Amino acid sequence: MEVRHLISIEDVSVSWWDDLYQLCCEIIARPDDYSLSCSGKVMASLFFEPSTRTNFSFQTAMMRLGGDVIGFSEPGATSAAKGETLADTIRMMSSYSDAIVMRSPHEGAALAASLYSDVPIINAGDGGHFHPTQTLADLTTISQKRGGIRNLNVGICGDLLNGRTVHSLILALAKFPNISFFLISPRELSIPDYMLAHLKNLNQKYIEISNLESTLPQLDVLYMTRIQRERFADPKDYERLKNSYVLNRRKLQMAKSDCLVMHPLPRVDEIARDVDGDPRAVYFEQARYGMFIRMALLLKMTHYERIPAAPVSDNTRLQCENPKCVTWAESYLPVLAKAADGESCAYCDKKMLTI
Ligand code: CP
Repeated sequence: MEVRHLISIEDVSVSWWDDLYQLCCEIIARPDDYSLSCSGKVMASLFFEPSTRTNFSFQTAMMRLGGDVIGFSEPGATSAAKGETLADTIRMMSSYSDAIVMRSPHEGAALAASLYSDVPIINAGDGGHFHPTQTLADLTTISQKRGGIRNLNVGICGDLLNGRTVHSLILALAKFPNISFFLISPRELSIPDYMLAHLKNLNQKYIEISNLESTLPQLDVLYMTRIQRERFADPKDYERLKNSYVLNRRKLQMAKSDCLVMHPLPRVDEIARDVDGDPRAVYFEQARYGMFIRMALLLKMTHYERIPAAPVSDNTRLQCENPKCVTWAESYLPVLAKAADGESCAYCDKKMLTI
């Protein structure tokens, strides 16, 4: 099935991934063959939150395909600063471009944007919710380094509550055979309920633990993440939790000789610099693979037919209980329930209230 907008990795099938990865491998092998394949196409890059890797790897990806880029990484320089809604910003940018890459601090913002866009929306991170294109980079890295995605003990360590890369990675890996998750976090930063419900629904093998050292020897992949300072309401909580995990060369001696040490980056202190030279540390390669898989993604999605967005109808009987949900920041949005259960918010996956 074709993916019109890339909002959640949950919408992606393994066969869609296989096709995309095949294209990515061809681009890596023969980049010159693709240097004009997006000639005449325009990618809009809308970053309402800071980024180094996602923003610039997408921009570079489009340039390497011969396409052009418009957009911003400083929303204060756009009419959003004058009070323009997300819906109107998207209507404008979709009329100028062939695909929109968007990052927002609000959970569900990419789904909201897709309601108003004539061109594909690519979610480059929506608050602490999802980050599906980071997951494409992660899957590419595992595939390149291990020859496939199966039979893996995957440790995911750090801020599992707010880490959007973690949520998307779990949703994706759960589609592959014989994956076991070791979810390593302080109790306060454990995986959100909607993610646990998903794992339980799938009968997925997982355990929640707080100790990294005792888990390390079992892992085929260790995915470290930073504690997400920007998502904490109280800075004192961040200060208390920020050094919960630090992987260093001494601890890494406990890991398997072929364990992949991954990180979506940016890192703060959770991986010591003395790990960088270890052959198991693949996080900088992971970021480079991100550029190639985004080339494959843009090559596909910028060539889709433009389809006018359908009129959006209101639904005032429901309200999302999550104050970080985009429906609070953009109050005109129709509140939508997830088709799967009719109870959780389609934008952010959290619980909804009937009013
Ligand atoms: N991995 C990632 O999303 O990095 P940036 O925040 O720098 O884009």
